[in-house]
Amino acid sequence: MRGLLNLKDLSTDKILELIKYAEKLKKGFRIQYPDKKIATVFFENSTRTHYSFQCALMNLGIKIIDVDTSHSSVNKGESLYDTVRTLEALGVDGIVIRHSKDDYYKELENIKIPIFNGGDGKANHPTQSLLDLMTIHEEFGKFKGLKCCIVGDISHSRVAHTNIEIMQRLGMEVYISGPEEFNDNSAPYIPLDQAIDEMDIIMLLRVQFERHQEKMSITVEEYHQKYGMTVERMKRMKEKAIIMHPAPFNRGVEIAGEVAECEKSRIFEQMTNGVYVRMAVISDSLDGNL
Ligand code: CP
Repeated sequence: MRGLLNLKDLSTDKILELIKYAEKLKKGFRIQYPDKKIATVFFENSTRTHYSFQCALMNLGIKIIDVDTSHSSVNKGESLYDTVRTLEALGVDGIVIRHSKDDYYKELENIKIPIFNGGDGKANHPTQSLLDLMTIHEEFGKFKGLKCCIVGDISHSRVAHTNIEIMQRLGMEVYISGPEEFNDNSAPYIPLDQAIDEMDIIMLLRVQFERHQEKMSITVEEYHQKYGMTVERMKRMKEKAIIMHPAPFNRGVEIAGEVAECEKSRIFEQMTNGVYVRMAVISDSLDGNL
């Protein structure tokens, strides 16, 4: 299949190439595809991924077909495959999809146009990981040897699962922390206060209540006190260490409101970088390389 479905299928060289291309686009490199049309199809809520893909498409001069899934024939029982096959028949040149089902793209193997995965269930969020990596690369100029702890609702997080795999491949030391009930052993566990003292990057995650089968065993106030990035914890981080979060974030739960915009926070820079990463992915694919 063409496009970008997950990062596991890409070599580390290809991932580094995409990050460098995104950095070049951020510095002002201009490329246009005025004859192309791309559809965005979001079956789950999204602010950043949906609209940064749209900004990326606009920056590339591509026409956008934004499919309103609440009014599409999906609600009459049409399958994902038939929706995508229809858009392909209409002549779109690629489709951005977010879906709640893990690995939904495996149903789309007969589709010839590129598919850009905007997040599938708990499994993959490739453009989020690329923008996280771009932000880390801009900050530190390298990956090898950096220590990152991902904190929070690991077991329900496609961001955590995608990042752990690629960060380890790039030579980073990756740990997880947070409530034991969210520990899926996808990386070594470290107590949060040890992580605060030792890490170069603390990556916080939102508690994904909408994916929980059972109620969290602690209150959000207890969560903030035990596992949240408080002002006190932020002040104990290493001088050059940074705070990241894929967002949306819940101020007062996994992060104190004032910490979200403190000088260690790169949260809004991550969002800015998301536009360039998505431009790089789409451009590379339309050029026949992805
Ligand atoms: N980070 C992220 O995927 O945010 P959205 O759900 O708003 O797209």
